[in-house]
Formats: sequence, structure tokens, C-alpha cells
Amino acid sequence: MTTSKVVARVEAPLAGVPNWLHINRMVPSSHPNLTVLDHPLIQHKLSILRDQATATKDFRQLVGEIAMLMTYEVTRNLATETVDVETPLERMTANRVAGKKLVLVPILRAGLGMVDGILQLIPSARVGHVGLYRDHLTLEPVSYYFKIPDGGGRDVFLLDPMLATGGSAVAAVTALKAAGATRIRFLCLVAAPEGVRAFEAAHPEVPVYTAGLDRELNRSGYILPGLGDAGDRLFGTR
Ligand code: PRP
Ligand code: URA
Repeated sequence: MTTSKVVARVEAPLAGVPNWLHINRMVPSSHPNLTVLDHPLIQHKLSILRDQATATKDFRQLVGEIAMLMTYEVTRNLATETVDVETPLERMTANRVAGKKLVLVPILRAGLGMVDGILQLIPSARVGHVGLYRDHLTLEPVSYYFKIPDGGGRDVFLLDPMLATGGSAVAAVTALKAAGATRIRFLCLVAAPEGVRAFEAAHPEVPVYTAGLDRELNRSGYILPGLGDAGDRLFGTR
């Protein structure tokens, strides 16, 4: 980063909790479908990601790391079931994640950058792909590829670093639903209020998780302050 400034986090003390022990929490936002993940490590890494001086190699690594940290929170309410386990000492009843294997669905291209970080936490997840690009003039999504594992009865995590106008994410969820997916969550790194509203209007029951809720879109549909073109920065194409 080119500049650094230390900003104190001021939080109301909780009864019985020493004030050096901050309780990390998910921040409720003014958008009912949106959760901003306010973990200090996520925010720290997002700040480096935004910096135009961050090189492609580091950008790629950070996208993966942030996606992995977000997954820890996003999976908090996955269903669990009990299982009998023989420890070296005795038999016990333990918990494990229930149901069919989870599905990760990156929106090409930039969503690909989030896949490996999440697979480090959920190595048995299946991976589908949705190919969409934004027409530079109309900003409308153009579909060019769709392949997912049978989505019925599975938790589906749709991945894209950027929620700008919302066109791509809305189209991707529409396609996932048409293919039978019902339990969909959308993970992005940076969201614009315009995109959050468009997404909520189209798919109000689909939760959106983001690391940052930014100010607005510019006339070209880029998020401000944002991080630029996520696909180009991830793959070094500009
Ligand atoms: C970017 C980004 C999203 C989309 C967001 O992809 O990765 O998919 O724009 O914009 P929206 O919310 O206005 O639809 P882009 O179209 O640049 O394609 P790329 O990843 O292949 O570069
Ligand atoms: N897509 C990007 O990659 N960045 C933006 O700011 C908006 C859309």
C-alpha cells in the first residue's frame, strides 16, 4: 500500500469481556439480504487488494485468502448431523456436515480466483462454472457457458469478486435456479449499493455476503472506490 493510517476500532464493551478482547461479528447492513464480513483479517487483506500497486501474484493470493476467510463465516449455519466415532480411547457421538457435497460456482472469469481458497476449507466440494461477461456498452451480462453438477438438494455458493450493476449475479442465479438449485448463497468481495438492490429485487431469498460495501458505480459501471477490473488484475490481462 502506498499510504498507511492507523484507525482505532471503537466498540462498545460487553459485560464480562475484557476490552482488549474484541468480539468479531458479522455486521448487519441496511440491506436485509446483505451481510458485510467485518473480520479484521478480511478487511486488512481487502485493503491491500484494492491498492493499485498490488502485483498480479499478490492479488491472486489475496483473492483466495479472503474467499477462504469469508467461507468460515458463510458456512456457519450449514446443517450438521451426528456420527459415531471411535477415538483411541472410547466411542463418542461427534458432529459432521450433513447432506450432499456442496457446490462452488464461480462466475467466469474472476470468480475462478475464489475457488482454490474455498477448496482448502472444503476439499470435497464440487465445482460448476457459469460463463458470463458484461457487454462494455450496455453493461448487460452475456452468457457463454453453463455447467454445474446436479444442484438439487445441495448448498450452492456462487462466487464473483464484484457485484456492480448486479446483472451478472442476477443472471447467474436465474440460471442456477432453472437448473434446480434451491439453496444458493452469493459471495463477493466488493459490492455496490446499486448491485445489492438489483440482486435483492430479483432474488430476495438469496443471501449475499461481501467483504466490502462500497459507495457507488461510476458511469462505466465500475465500483467506486472498488479495486478496478477484477478479471484483468487477477489474470494480468491489462
Ligand atoms: C466482472 C465481474 C463480474 C461483473 C460484475 O466481470 O467479475 O462478473 O463484471 O458486473 P455486474 O454486476 O455489473 O454484472 P466481467 O464482465 O468484466 O468479465 P471477466 O471476469 O471475464 O473479465
Ligand atoms: N467488474 C469489475 O471487475 N470491477 C468493477 O468495478 C465492476 C465490474
